[in-house]
Amino acid sequence: MAEYVPPPTAGLPLHLSDLWPWGDDDLAGALAHWLRVPAVQLECSGTAALMVALAALKQLAPARTEVVIPAYTCPLVALAVAQSGLRPRLCDLRPDRLDMDPGQLAALCSERTLALLPTHLCGRVADVGAALACARAVGAYVIEDAAQALGARMHGEPVGWQGDIGFYSLAVGKGLSTYEGGVLLARDPALREALRAAGRAARHASRYWEWRRSLELLGYALLYRPRGLGRAYGRPLRAALARGDWVQAAGDDFGDHIPRHPLGAWRRRVGVRALHRLGRFQARLADQAHERLAQLAAIPGLEVLGDIVPGTRGVWPVLLLRLPSAAARDALLRAHWGAGLGLSLPFVHALPDYGRYDHVLAGARGEEVPRARDWAARLVAVSNSLWLDEERFVRLLRILEQAALDRRAA
Ligand SMILES: Cc1ncc(COP(=O)(O)O)c(C=O)c1O
Repeated sequence: MAEYVPPPTAGLPLHLSDLWPWGDDDLAGALAHWLRVPAVQLECSGTAALMVALAALKQLAPARTEVVIPAYTCPLVALAVAQSGLRPRLCDLRPDRLDMDPGQLAALCSERTLALLPTHLCGRVADVGAALACARAVGAYVIEDAAQALGARMHGEPVGWQGDIGFYSLAVGKGLSTYEGGVLLARDPALREALRAAGRAARHASRYWEWRRSLELLGYALLYRPRGLGRAYGRPLRAALARGDWVQAAGDDFGDHIPRHPLGAWRRRVGVRALHRLGRFQARLADQAHERLAQLAAIPGLEVLGDIVPGTRGVWPVLLLRLPSAAARDALLRAHWGAGLGLSLPFVHALPDYGRYDHVLAGARGEEVPRARDWAARLVAVSNSLWLDEERFVRLLRILEQAALDRRAA
């Protein structure tokens, strides 16, 4: 019998009926309606969406060459900035939450800054107001990186709507997935027009990529269930862990090539049909998250991360925990990552510590980011998949109780 492996994040499972080849393909319209905004723009990935946003802003402010990003974020963000001909500047994080540190943010912003990227990491809602204040002081733009936060809201509006531009990812394991996909939104109609023009200029129809992504989406629909994930996710994960390759185990091993093509009609149709279930699915995830976070918060020494910014309601692909020390976190992962208990890492390192991305970090490589390093060393994610059943979760609670007692090098 196939092994039972819950996914590392709680993506919306596809139904076979989602795969029907005909029907409504207006995913942009359906998403705009679901988000309650006038319009959104589709791209072939979150990274491509970010590159379109940067191209549009470069047109508006060609003299500005720098983009301030969190020092602990998806390496694709740094790749997108560099491939847009811009210089990433790494901002350290706050010690108490995953937001960029406002003091550092102010120090990094100048007349050279094109944009700042407050990031709603793992569905937790970032402090966009602080980023907006810094950006406005120097005439820069704010792009909300909401790649992991489709469905999160702030003061009744979707995240991504408070800044100048926002983007979501529709990649594998995200709330809604077209295997790869990206969504752009902007409140200002003139900026929306600039995004449309930049998107049109960047996209090139590619049969290869659309066939490939369509087959990948089909495989995802068939295998994204606990018995399928043993083969598709569990085995490669354990092989990477056996080699000691945490970067590959966490899926942080990105190549330089970023495809730029339209999101095909069949994948849009699949997205439209699945979107009907997303709201109810996310409500169930929120219920499970709140119940489980309360149990996790009762463990002495373990810190759970919730939404701190008033008036926000995040989404819950994972539950984020901070361990008392790097040694405790690493021992936990060495013993239990890959054991089907839903443990994973959002990202393995602070950006300067991968090595493999040094070519895109350029001048930012040497920047001092001690708090981002500390977050990278002590953070762990627990899948909030509904397939991480009660029996497994209770086993995990016992393991975490022991891990939080581990005070080595605390
Ligand atoms: C914070 C963040 N930004 C950007 C991206 C890029 O999105 P995509 O994978 O859709 O290209 C990701 C991907 O997971 C992400 O986690």
